[in-house]
Amino acid sequence: MTSQHEPAAPALAVDVLSIFPEYFTGPLDASLLGKARERGHLRVDVHDLRDWSVDRHRTVDAEPYGGGAGMVMRPEPFVHAVEDLYGGLAHRPRTVLLSPRGRRLDQPLVAELAREPALLLLCGRYEGIDERVHRLLAHDEVSLGDYVLAGGEAAACVLIEAVSRLVPGVVGNTASVAEESFAGGLLEHPQYTRPARFRGLEVPAVLRSGDHGAVARWRRAQSRARTRAVRPDLLEDDAPPGGGGSSASGPGASGRGPDPSG
Ligand code: ADE
Repeated sequence: MTSQHEPAAPALAVDVLSIFPEYFTGPLDASLLGKARERGHLRVDVHDLRDWSVDRHRTVDAEPYGGGAGMVMRPEPFVHAVEDLYGGLAHRPRTVLLSPRGRRLDQPLVAELAREPALLLLCGRYEGIDERVHRLLAHDEVSLGDYVLAGGEAAACVLIEAVSRLVPGVVGNTASVAEESFAGGLLEHPQYTRPARFRGLEVPAVLRSGDHGAVARWRRAQSRARTRAVRPDLLEDDAPPGGGGSSASGPGASGRGPDPSG
């Protein structure tokens, strides 16, 4: 019998293929993800790609055809792993290959992936993965950003954490997920807690006014000002109602100055 706190089947099941399964131990066991897995909201199984290696030396890579530096990951271990895990390529879940050449991970893509019942994440190392893995297996190629990591494992951890937070039951306070940075296409407004004055910096008076309307307007203006200062690209489709600019006196161009008190 399952109680309310122990779902019969996880809302999201993730399989990961990597030659460094131990890489995932800390991130998947700690904090939010650890609890979500314990409670059965989330299943994550990390499979050692070398279990499907091509020889008894557990080889998974080879020199690139055409020459060049470094090694390339061979296609057979990935394809054989998927066939073993799902009984054929046709039955694999939505498959994401982590790669610097992929589409940049952002909150809309995170939300899209969170609607899937299952995901398969493919992690590469070395100079990359044989193109046939991209062609045969990857529904999506996803990059964390315009820089090169040592492999896809760190990116897979980031993706799992971001997606899991949107899975029902994983984050207790659903309002915090709805309000946070990017949920409304803007960066989050500044937050304050006690004490009211610290090292000469005051909590803006409006936040202590008890006027919920004024607080909401201040937060919206702060979000817009902060977004304009550090991520103006996010504002392109976010014209203010009635046109014209916002009257918010926001943070400085660095986006880090003391917040103006309202
Ligand atoms: N593997 C190496 N670099 C990467 C990146 N920037 N994003 C995703 N996977 C990667």
